[in-house]
Amino acid sequence: MMTDSIAGLTAVVTGAGSGIGLEIARMFAAEGCRVVAADLDPSACDGIPGVRTVTADLGTPSGAALVAEAAADAGILVNNVAVAPYRESFAAIDDAAWQRTWDINVMSCVRLCRAVIPRMAARGGGSVVNIGSEGARHPKPYLVDYAVTKAALLVLAKALSMEFGPAGVRVNTVAPGPTRTSTMETFLGSLSRDLGIDVDAAADHFVHTMRHLPLGRMNEPADVAAVVRFLAGPASRQVTGAEYTVNAGSTASV
Ligand SMILES: NC(=O)c1ccc[n+]([C@@H]2O[C@H](COP(=O)([O-])OP(=O)(O)OC[C@H]3O[C@@H](n4cnc5c(N)ncnc54)[C@H](O)[C@@H]3O)[C@@H](O)[C@H]2O)c1
Repeated sequence: MMTDSIAGLTAVVTGAGSGIGLEIARMFAAEGCRVVAADLDPSACDGIPGVRTVTADLGTPSGAALVAEAAADAGILVNNVAVAPYRESFAAIDDAAWQRTWDINVMSCVRLCRAVIPRMAARGGGSVVNIGSEGARHPKPYLVDYAVTKAALLVLAKALSMEFGPAGVRVNTVAPGPTRTSTMETFLGSLSRDLGIDVDAAADHFVHTMRHLPLGRMNEPADVAAVVRFLAGPASRQVTGAEYTVNAGSTASV
């Protein structure tokens, strides 16, 4: 019978300082991985047994290199870091703003994959999980640059899965829908002020009236981490180039 252990593997998680990344780092460490947790501010990971933090700006080549160096023997790579700046209008996003979103959301993944995947391949394989977004397939104008980067990650994962599948490296995408992290809490705070209701009522309004989520609740970070965990481990050994949605059924199309 196949076991699904990831114990003893080195797992790199980017954007591990909060939200979904923090939950993934905790989950992997609890299962016996040596976790390399990278973030501008990874202090939330301090003291978690099995987690080593790396402070790095993942939007820069030197930041990505620092993380790659700390993870020479990675068997699992989770590209989770992203920014999703709210945009008032397309015309107001200048080249520098586009470039910064691109550098953090896409180039961090490109650079880490380039450093880590060949080494995984040389050791017989590994698993890469990129965190996408429902925004890649259902773009919102106020998150246009974010949505473009998340669509790009889908293409990247597919191409990498084809090139490195023969070497045993799998590359998949987990695409979350609305998830209760600090970004979502900020949004719910604004919504509650706009509607003159408390935050719980705003969350309810968002789930039932604005988004019509069939499962009637938003994701918790652990809901996303659980699917990442599946794709990281040997139970998903026949899965590559795939996109798994974790969105309470928000995708109303086939
Ligand atoms: N929360 C949601 O509703 C939602 C929905 C769809 C997709 N996602 C995706 O899930 C992933 C995690 O989202 P989250 O809500 O947990 O995010 P979050 O904002 O809670 O955490 C992101 C982390 O990335 C770090 N970070 C930002 N810029 C960085 C940089 N330049 N270098 C290093 N670290 C940096 C931040 O410090 C933070 O700890 C992202 O890829 C996001 O696009 C989230």
